[in-house]
Amino acid sequence: MADNNNEKDPKKVTSASDTSKKDASKEENSANSDTPKDAEKATTDAQKEAHSHSAKEETSDKPAPKKHKKRAMVVTIVVVVLVVAGVGFYQWHNTPQFCAAFCHNMDQYLATYEEPQNTQGVDKYGNEVSNTNAMMATLHRHNETTGKSEIRCMDCHHAIVGEQVSEGTEWISGNYYDPLDERVGDDLTKWWGEPGGNFCVNENCHAYLRDGNGGINYDRLEASTVWMDFNPHSQHHGDIQMACTECHKGHRASVYMCTGCHDDIDVPDGWVTYQENQEIMANSGTQLKGTQISESMVR
Ligand code: HEC
Ligand code: HEC
Ligand code: HEC
Repeated sequence: MADNNNEKDPKKVTSASDTSKKDASKEENSANSDTPKDAEKATTDAQKEAHSHSAKEETSDKPAPKKHKKRAMVVTIVVVVLVVAGVGFYQWHNTPQFCAAFCHNMDQYLATYEEPQNTQGVDKYGNEVSNTNAMMATLHRHNETTGKSEIRCMDCHHAIVGEQVSEGTEWISGNYYDPLDERVGDDLTKWWGEPGGNFCVNENCHAYLRDGNGGINYDRLEASTVWMDFNPHSQHHGDIQMACTECHKGHRASVYMCTGCHDDIDVPDGWVTYQENQEIMANSGTQLKGTQISESMVR
């Protein structure tokens, strides 16, 4: 069989060694048992047990070996402990505290998240923020308008297994930065394979701003804030299209990017101007990504 497969699929050069690995593990299994005969008995017993309890009682003429019963109990206990630990770990793993429990470079993200809302605070780089509501992680932690009692790290940062494995290996190998380079929308959704806007307009969050294809519906976005004196979501400049995360910052004061040209508009409490943003990032020691505003953008 394996040989046939090999012939059919020449790419599968490893299957031969796979088979020998399997053989090796088989040998190991039987080596674990006292004798090959024992091993054989164990498997048949296990098979019987798997079939049904009553069937086993009817068919087994020899008394069930005590050792085997004990082993079954130990296995049950181990399984129960593993399941309980697994569930416990999973729940702990979903808490904001977990993120910072292992990774020191998560401290400032947990700190910004945990700050009290609507008051003076500090951003992920240690800068003062005049109103913590300007940091989306803080604002969203508990928010009447979301109708959710609590939004956790993983509600915004959807955990994809591949990403977590990658974080794990980076943690083990020490291959990470502190402070981290700032992520923009596209980085944050890279693991989901979706455009950056979907970080905010994913189906669990600002889904009412989505279009039929799951992307951003810019008409709805614009309509959602028409009541503002100067509508930050206005699509007046079709050619200036910014990601949500260019203005809405998770762990530092949000940036009113339009002030790069419109210097007469009111900046919301705690937010910073385009110019202030340039300074914050210059002092952060990390790379500034995103739109660089220049007069030539508007024709
Ligand atoms: C050019 C900057 C900018 C961009 C880009 C931007 N926003 Fe906003 N947004 C603002 C400002 C400014 C406010 C007002 C905040 C305040 O008053 O505290 C706001 C408010 C909001 C609000 C609250 C509206 C309300 O009724 O209170 C939501 C929700 C929102 N934005 C979602 C988004 C989403 C989703 C995107 C991306 C698709 C986005 N924004 C892109 C600047 C921006
Ligand atoms: C409201 C959504 C939201 C929540 C909740 C949230 N984040 Fe973020 N996070 C963001 C955004 C947006 C960014 C992009 C960078 C920024 O704006 O600061 C980000 C960026 C990050 C980054 C990348 C590094 C960087 O500076 O860009 C890390 C790490 C991170 N968050 C960790 C956390 C942890 C840990 C928690 C929970 C304690 C958390 N986040 C909660 C929205 C959120
Ligand atoms: C590169 C400079 C530049 C940037 C950045 C810029 N604008 Fe403008 N904007 C202009 C100029 C110049 C005008 C006047 C000419 C025109 O109407 O296009 C204008 C006019 C407008 C108008 C119509 C007139 C008014 O003042 O009400 C709106 C609405 C507007 N901008 C919204 C925005 C929004 C929202 C942003 C941020 C997402 C933004 N602009 C970013 C240069 C800019």
